[in-house]
Amino acid sequence: MKITVIGCGYVGLVTGGCLAAVGHHVTCVDNDPKKIIALEAGHIPIYELHLEEVIAACRKDGRIKFSGDLPSAIQEGEAIFICVGTPPLENGEADLSAIDSVARIIAAEAHGPKLVVEKSTVPVQTGQQLKRALEVYGRKSGAHFRVVSNPEFLREGTAVLDFMHPDRIVVGVEDEAAAKQMREIYAPILDRKFKCPVHPQGCPAGEKPHYLVTTINSSELIKHACNSFLALKISYANVLADLCERLGGNIEEVTRAMGMDPRIGPFFLKAGIGFGGFCLPKDLQAFVALARRAGVDFSLLREAENVNKDRIEQFLAKIRRALWVLKGKQVGLLGLTFKANTDDIRFAPSIDLIRKLLAEGASLRAYDPEAMERTRETFPQVRYADPYEVADKADALLIVTEWEEFKKLDWARVRDSMMRPLVFDGRNLLDPAKMRELGFEYQSIGRP
Ligand code: UDX
Repeated sequence: MKITVIGCGYVGLVTGGCLAAVGHHVTCVDNDPKKIIALEAGHIPIYELHLEEVIAACRKDGRIKFSGDLPSAIQEGEAIFICVGTPPLENGEADLSAIDSVARIIAAEAHGPKLVVEKSTVPVQTGQQLKRALEVYGRKSGAHFRVVSNPEFLREGTAVLDFMHPDRIVVGVEDEAAAKQMREIYAPILDRKFKCPVHPQGCPAGEKPHYLVTTINSSELIKHACNSFLALKISYANVLADLCERLGGNIEEVTRAMGMDPRIGPFFLKAGIGFGGFCLPKDLQAFVALARRAGVDFSLLREAENVNKDRIEQFLAKIRRALWVLKGKQVGLLGLTFKANTDDIRFAPSIDLIRKLLAEGASLRAYDPEAMERTRETFPQVRYADPYEVADKADALLIVTEWEEFKKLDWARVRDSMMRPLVFDGRNLLDPAKMRELGFEYQSIGRP
């Protein structure tokens, strides 16, 4: 099928690349000419495992192209995937202006039937507004629009894997024909008939993805409901970790046993310095705002948000207790991204942490395998260096992201170079017994 993807951000590039990889002909458009020039030159502006190879292979086969010409791309595509950003407004609600603007252009430029797929995360009832905008602004074009909500559940860092091997594909539709067309688009993935870029030796056997057809409103709700529930689970684990610290207990033992109960499940119970990234915090806020507007009290979620906001303060309190005065102390940060295997620092715990440490007069050095340049733009006063230089003469070292490579550091060398061998592990990445054996003063989250 000929597919147009509007928006070349994380979701757009992964969607476009993967749909091309399973056999469709995809045009990805963006209103940022610099981005299009870079993509045409083969440069992928985000760090995402497998994505570069996927896109390069599809370009070679002529199944994907990049363009700044939105009207032509709209006319070409049988299905148009809207993957534009919906950033948070001051009041926590999602800013839908990009969707609105794209809708009006689609309405004006389309001829013939178009399947318009809303993939950006949006509040419930956006599909209805989108449909109305298409009808109102497209009344002269004679085009016919079918609106579909098709939320994206991919995680940064494993986005290609998640797209190719989803647990479920949810489509919110108004009629059978739209559900059928969506089924056709996803047929290779649903039937597992594609050459997998993640498993070149063959995909592991497993259940095929569920294909769920719902109303548009339900589909939109599903996405917010999932992300908010994940946030709730993390905050729950983080408060449990606080309890473990105060009353004695080991959060890992507690959550491990909890996870063995299939009603709870083992995932998203990892305690740490809080959730970040562009989705969880923003979707949680948007869901709370949406509930408030609908007259429903979802303060349960607001608490999850409060617990999360408090994480950095709690972490800092531990650092202050150990270092006493932060002014003039040298503190090293290992990890800047909001989680490992991404280059994304949006709403990363590191940002808040750096801001507060600097405000207290600490002198900072930081290392991250992917995000040092990006962080330098916001914090030029931090010195960026390799992990050993970050540790050199430091009064304390903070593990802020759970990059695997930090486990493999020569920790004896780190210990010897530090002014004081003090490590605060905000991700419970290292083994407390080993660290103490090595002579570190070591503190982690919710572990004795
Ligand atoms: C999330 C959702 O998982 C995904 O389905 C949705 O499409 C987009 O939002 P992502 O933002 O890539 O994906 O990150 P995710 O892996 O969910 O992690 C979010 C944050 O929670 C990270 O900061 C991570 O470190 C933190 N986290 C995650 C925990 O602190 N503990 C956990 O147990 C899991």
